Amino acid sequence: MVSLKDKDIISIRELTREEIELILKEADNMLPIARGEVYSDILKGKILATLFFEPSTRTRMSFETAMQRLGGGVIGFSSKEGTSIMKGETLSDTIKVVEGYADIIVLRHPAEGSARLAAEVSSKPVINGGDGAGQHPTQTLLDLYTIKKELGEIESKKVVLLGDLKYGRTVHSLAYALAMFNAEIGLVSPPTLRMPEEIINDLKEMGAKIKEYSALKDAIKEADVLYVTRIQKERFPDPAEYMKVAGSYKIALKILKDAKENLIIMHPLPRVNEIDPSVDVTKHAKYFIQSFYGVPVRMALLKLVLVG
Ligand code: NCD
Repeated sequence: MVSLKDKDIISIRELTREEIELILKEADNMLPIARGEVYSDILKGKILATLFFEPSTRTRMSFETAMQRLGGGVIGFSSKEGTSIMKGETLSDTIKVVEGYADIIVLRHPAEGSARLAAEVSSKPVINGGDGAGQHPTQTLLDLYTIKKELGEIESKKVVLLGDLKYGRTVHSLAYALAMFNAEIGLVSPPTLRMPEEIINDLKEMGAKIKEYSALKDAIKEADVLYVTRIQKERFPDPAEYMKVAGSYKIALKILKDAKENLIIMHPLPRVNEIDPSVDVTKHAKYFIQSFYGVPVRMALLKLVLVG
């Protein structure tokens, strides 16, 4: 039987398709509770710690909402200021302390590999809420859930990933999951922000159908899902390099005129300038419902990891 009980969630690649499908199914059961229509206390007495060393609105708040909607409690911090990290405490010491206070830990940290390290140190399950340019597995789960809800299935859909494919952890995680689900993957980015070669190689080894586009409008014509991302300014070693690519793509009404009728546009958010607000009122725009789906999906995950 598939079980996620006590499992660390560090990379999407460590979940099987069956496990992912179990989470998505459980998320459906959570919907009325996520909307506040039904009350549940299945996580009563459990405590979630949210350790956020990088800015976050959606990931942290939707985890907190998810925990509270299921009757659990939340502790944590949203920046390292105000914690003993400022006195020089190491991440592993912080984790060893927090595991004494909580039943499950969500960590967001600028260093790639930090969540893995935390999981090795912690006897309590650790969920990766984003580790630098590495992975963001729970974002991927809600992205998959959104595609499934909006388009019925993930299999054989053409998903175009647009933007910062080099530093974007959301697209790194999502690409692996799309390969697992036999979706077709389209890639469009400024030339300096291409998907890392090693990820492309992994995807090909998994048998994924991948197509790189040089023109955004060609990609849009073929897409079932257009997954737009922000250029990850904070990851550029040199601000001048960021300035060269800033504003280099933007989705506005005009470029969508040849899009498929049922195209959905997603974005992990925050958006900076990549999607013009005039797109928000079109039937294609799904990024706000996508951010809401973070709640039932994270509820499902907390329940499956904490109680099975
Ligand atoms: C993303 C992240 O933190 O990687 N945000 C999120 O979790 N929804 C995307 C981003 O910051 O651009």
